[in-house]
Formats: sequence, C-alpha cells, structure tokens
Amino acid sequence: MPKLEDLNEAQREAAMHVDGPCVVVAGAGSGKTSMLVTRVAELIKAGVPPNRILCCTFTRKATKEMGERIVRDIGPRAKPVVVSTIHGLALRMVMPKMEGWKLVSKTEWMFEVVLGPKSTVNRYGTGFSKELNVEDAMLAIGKAKNSKQRPEQVEDPIVRQVYRAYEDLKKARKMLDFDDLLLKANEFLRTDANFAQKMQSRFTHISVDEFQDVNLVQWDLIRKLAEPHHNLLVVGDDFQSIYGFRGARPELIIC
Ligand SMILES: Nc1ncnc2c1ncn2[C@@H]1O[C@H](COP(=O)(O)OP(=O)(O)OP(=O)(O)O)[C@@H](O)[C@H]1O
Ligand SMILES: [Mg+2]
Repeated sequence: MPKLEDLNEAQREAAMHVDGPCVVVAGAGSGKTSMLVTRVAELIKAGVPPNRILCCTFTRKATKEMGERIVRDIGPRAKPVVVSTIHGLALRMVMPKMEGWKLVSKTEWMFEVVLGPKSTVNRYGTGFSKELNVEDAMLAIGKAKNSKQRPEQVEDPIVRQVYRAYEDLKKARKMLDFDDLLLKANEFLRTDANFAQKMQSRFTHISVDEFQDVNLVQWDLIRKLAEPHHNLLVVGDDFQSIYGFRGARPELIIC
C-alpha cells in the first residue's frame, strides 16, 4: 500500500488532490508514477468506486507498469481500476459501434497499394512510389491525422493524394488504423449525444501519466471524457514540448 508519508511534500499534495483539474510537472524519475499510484489509493479511500477511476498513458509499457504497481501497492480492491493506453480506451469505445469493421495494426501493405501504379486491379494506386516511400508516407499521413488534418487540408500535393487514396482504400475494405480509433472516438463524442453521455459518465476521476507525449487528437479525447466533472489530473515531465502548454496552468487545461 503506497503511503502518503513515504512521499515528499509536493508528491503528497498532488496525491491528495481529489476533485477538479490539476497539472503536475516534475522531472524524469522524480516519482510521478508513484504519486499517481498513491493518488488512486487516496481516491478509493475517499470513497470513489475503483471501477470509476481511469489511469491513462500513451504506451503499452507504461500502462503495464502502472497497472502492476496499482495492484501490487494497493491490493486486489484496486483491480477494477481501469488502466489503459489512450488507444486501448478508444478501441473499447469505438469498436462496438463499428460492426463489420476491422482494426489493422500492420498498414504497410496498404501504403504499398496506394503508392503503386493505378491499374485495373488497383484503382487506389497513385503511382507516387518514386516520390514517396512507404515509411515516409506512413509518417506524413500519421502526422496529418494526429494534427486533425483531413486529406484536403494537407499542403503537399503528393501526400494529399496518397492520404486520400489510403482513406478510400481503408473505407472500401471496412478497415480502421490506430489513428482512426481516436478520430472516430472523437467524432462519436461530438456527434452522438447518447454515446457522449454514456462515455462521460463511465469515469468520475481521470489521471494521465506521461502527459508530455499527448497530441492534439488524444487531448481532445481526454478532455471530452472529463468534460462533465473536470476531475482530470495530468502529469508530465516536459510540458514545454506540448503545443499550447507553455506556462500551463490547471485552469487552462479544461477549455
Ligand atoms: N518520495 C520518494 N522517496 C523515495 N523514493 C521515491 C519517492 N518517490 C518515488 N520514489 C522512487 O523513485 C523511483 C522512480 O519513481 P517513479 O517511477 O514514480 O518516477 P517517475 O517520475 O514516474 O519516473 P519516469 O520519469 O521514469 O516516468 C521509484 O523507484 C520509486 O519507488
Ligand atoms: Mg513514470
């Protein structure tokens, strides 16, 4: 059981935060995750049902580590706490609404198809394989999607056409990539009031570790989930790296 008295004063103050928005910035290895784990114990102590607590991170490794630390330090009563990557969360939100659709984790072959020449057997081909290789296309399109850019908003004409073809091919095959999970989750939250209400009432307290890794699309999703209660605590080690977070203040994170 993580004890408040084992933490230093700054950690203790953050770990005891219950309601409302809170931003914590602290150096690498300074005990941020320990603070979050203690906070989970404190929330449970304060009467928050464990299954209404969400701890979110951005990598599977960080999620595994936090999940293990929560159960090891707090015990079996913390098992219902949801510890998830942001993609895992989006997956559980989106897939039940996408019957017949598949998630594809390996998308290289689709980029090969859209970069290849247009032909009777490949109507999605753009013929740009000389100008753009698979890896660069994946990077450029991933970056555009995570900046909320649609194909027509992309400046580079080659990337724009390859992006369009890639989206068309995925749609025709009823496939989603990992970026789509987040975009779809945000779309449903924006356009489906019942869905939004259901998702927003799922968790009463949300913590985000490694917040320096957040991007615009992920931030939209987290912010929207926390909208009704604003019980959102985010922890990171380098907020300077986050667009729009220079000089972040807690009251600014909920906008
Ligand atoms: N107040 C404390 N006193 C002594 N040791 C501590 C304290 N807080 C954390 N630690 C220890 O310091 C180490 C790093 O802690 P932790 O993983 O929580 O840091 P972190 O800031 O999340 O690290 P990272 O930047 O790698 O994510 C752990 O071994 C943890 O047990
Ligand atoms: Mg950590």
